[in-house]
Amino acid sequence: MRESMRIDGYTRTCGLIGNPVEHTMSPVIHNTLAQVLGQNLVYVPFHVQPGYVRQAVEGAYALNLLGCNVTVPYKSEVIPFLKELDPLAERIGAVNTLVRTEGGFKGYNTDMPGLLRAFEADGVRPAGEKVLILGAGGVARAVAVMLSELASEIIILNRTSEKAQKLSDEINACAKRRPARAMSLSDWRQLPAGERYLAVQTTNVGMFPGVEEAVIEDVDFYRRIHTGYDLIFNPARTRFMQLTEEAGGRAYNGLKMLLYQGVIAYEHWTGATVTAELEERAYTAMKQAMAIEK
Ligand code: ATR
Repeated sequence: MRESMRIDGYTRTCGLIGNPVEHTMSPVIHNTLAQVLGQNLVYVPFHVQPGYVRQAVEGAYALNLLGCNVTVPYKSEVIPFLKELDPLAERIGAVNTLVRTEGGFKGYNTDMPGLLRAFEADGVRPAGEKVLILGAGGVARAVAVMLSELASEIIILNRTSEKAQKLSDEINACAKRRPARAMSLSDWRQLPAGERYLAVQTTNVGMFPGVEEAVIEDVDFYRRIHTGYDLIFNPARTRFMQLTEEAGGRAYNGLKMLLYQGVIAYEHWTGATVTAELEERAYTAMKQAMAIEK
């Protein structure tokens, strides 16, 4: 890729604001898209130290950056420094994409639309589903907000049951039909026997290097899951996915969500239409980069 990369006076820059940023896959996604589309655009990571988020956002705007992604731990912290906020990002309370507008950046959340596109690509249909969300942190919150208008029921299972309850109350306060309820992770046996769920795994349990772990080990739990969607992508097949498949369910990792949140951000920045063929090119490049990293 580097050979054909052209940097000149017309090159537009997009960046990633986060801490850390060293293991990000986003440069692979965006630089592949720019290269294949023949756009004079380069995407680079920016490691921003705590306390410098405002300067980073204002500096990025002042330097005429076309757009930015925002990653951990700044997805909420960045919000006060934006000119405008997309309604979905506002509801989720987290922004991962900044788009240049007159006088400042507008904040979007492309993580959740990215997850919806990934569901679609994998043939997972959340509409009318009974959904289990494992975890009650920031990612779980975003997933619950997004599914609150789609799923028929959302059960939030978390180690700390108070956090699950708080999230469930928040979702029910906003959604018209109070679809959410909370459970302690250890109470999963109270799930009605005979029901089969779409489970979205949002905790970091099972992520490299702790690849031998899953939030729940008992095979009986996995018999209640028809589809297990783990938002972890390293390793590509988590223990949660393995247990889901062994119990007869379908299992997917978070790599496609990562791809699509990037594709949607790129579309916001450039106005380009990313075709299925182009998505495949970026997806292949991501998988290659990950294999090289390991
Ligand atoms: P994120 O923004 O990625 O969601 P987070 O807000 O720190 O990160 O949330 C992490 C989630 O993983 C929480 O739901 C956490 O459970 P607690 O609320 O009980 O802390 C869950 N989690 C982390 N380690 C866990 C473990 N070993 N077992 C079960 N759940 C775990």
